[in-house]
Amino acid sequence: MKNTVGFGIIGAGMIAAFHAKAMQQLDNVKLVAFYDSFAPAAKARAEEFGVKAYTKFEDFLADPDIDAVTIATPSGAHHSVAIPAARAGKHILCEKPIEINLQRVDEMIRVCEENHVLLSSVFQSRFSKPVKLVREAVQAGRFGRMVLASGTQRWYREPKYYAASNWRGTWKMDGGGALMNQAIHMVDLLLYVNGAPEEVFAFSGTLTHSIEVEDNLCATIKYRNGSFGTIEVSTSCAPGFSRRIEFSGSTGTVAFEEDRIVRWEFATPDPQDEIIRKELIGTGEHSGSDPKNINLSGHACQISDLAEAILTGKQLVLDGNEGRRAVELICGIYESARTGKPFFFNR
Ligand SMILES: NC(=O)c1ccc[n+]([C@@H]2O[C@H](COP(=O)([O-])OP(=O)(O)OC[C@H]3O[C@@H](n4cnc5c(N)ncnc54)[C@H](O)[C@@H]3O)[C@@H](O)[C@H]2O)c1
Repeated sequence: MKNTVGFGIIGAGMIAAFHAKAMQQLDNVKLVAFYDSFAPAAKARAEEFGVKAYTKFEDFLADPDIDAVTIATPSGAHHSVAIPAARAGKHILCEKPIEINLQRVDEMIRVCEENHVLLSSVFQSRFSKPVKLVREAVQAGRFGRMVLASGTQRWYREPKYYAASNWRGTWKMDGGGALMNQAIHMVDLLLYVNGAPEEVFAFSGTLTHSIEVEDNLCATIKYRNGSFGTIEVSTSCAPGFSRRIEFSGSTGTVAFEEDRIVRWEFATPDPQDEIIRKELIGTGEHSGSDPKNINLSGHACQISDLAEAILTGKQLVLDGNEGRRAVELICGIYESARTGKPFFFNR
């Protein structure tokens, strides 16, 4: 029986290098090749990691050593490579957001199902121990009745972050700004822990950058479980603070800075609480201004999870439908900001 999955990476830019490094740490994965529509990028990454470079997509997809592909192209160029990859029988690990609108996301999910390939949507924070602990605590009823689930991400991106890229900050390829690009992980965690949204109302604006999309946005949410929350995001707030997420129920409150727990307080203490505080409470120090401030271990866990699912048939932790949830909420928030009216989600 096969015990490694051959991976090819589509798009050989910034995040592709994180995927390649993470793959090098894993026993159940072998990096085989890079493909990029800009040939020098594919060649440079292939040389860096000692693997093949493809400059023709058809040749890349025809490589029998490639069982699965990682999609690391600009966000609005995920669907256009995912569909042929699925039809070529390749399993897919797709960077966030899975795509920039629900029509494309749904087609990706459908075509993967039709071609019997797995689709995993990258949200590496879900694999962190603190996130798992909080979700389990909610499910075990430790928060009592959930009342508030909110996130704030006052980050900073220098003007050159947008100016140096032909796709960041555009509706066509980024699909949005501070919310769709930077804060989508925070949105995913709010939904993962507190469940689906029922209604949102939002304001958004482009306040300090010369870009099409928003660099500041504020939304209020009503969740389906009856609780409320706010989401505030920015790429204008120099020098940039850590992302903060807080979950509160009638009997407990937990706060994160980035993926680290900074408060773990319950009305009825449990012997485990002290251990969790000792092990997990950190300062949450993080640069809110560095796009490369990404923890490799989350990506490694997620790549390994897809490889295990391919090799053993186990259930994916994060499939296409899970990846769809944050895109659905974000598109609803944008619609509210555009129309000036609340947006309601279908059940
Ligand atoms: N999970 C995370 O924390 C995280 C962090 C950063 C970026 N991302 C996501 O990763 C994706 C890529 O971001 P990046 O920062 O690496 O971008 P990048 O601009 O550094 O790299 C994108 C690469 O894709 C190539 N490309 C563009 N269109 C292509 C196509 N149709 N076919 C093949 N190659 C193509 C470009 O030539 C470029 O080399 C985005 O969707 C982004 O949101 C995720």
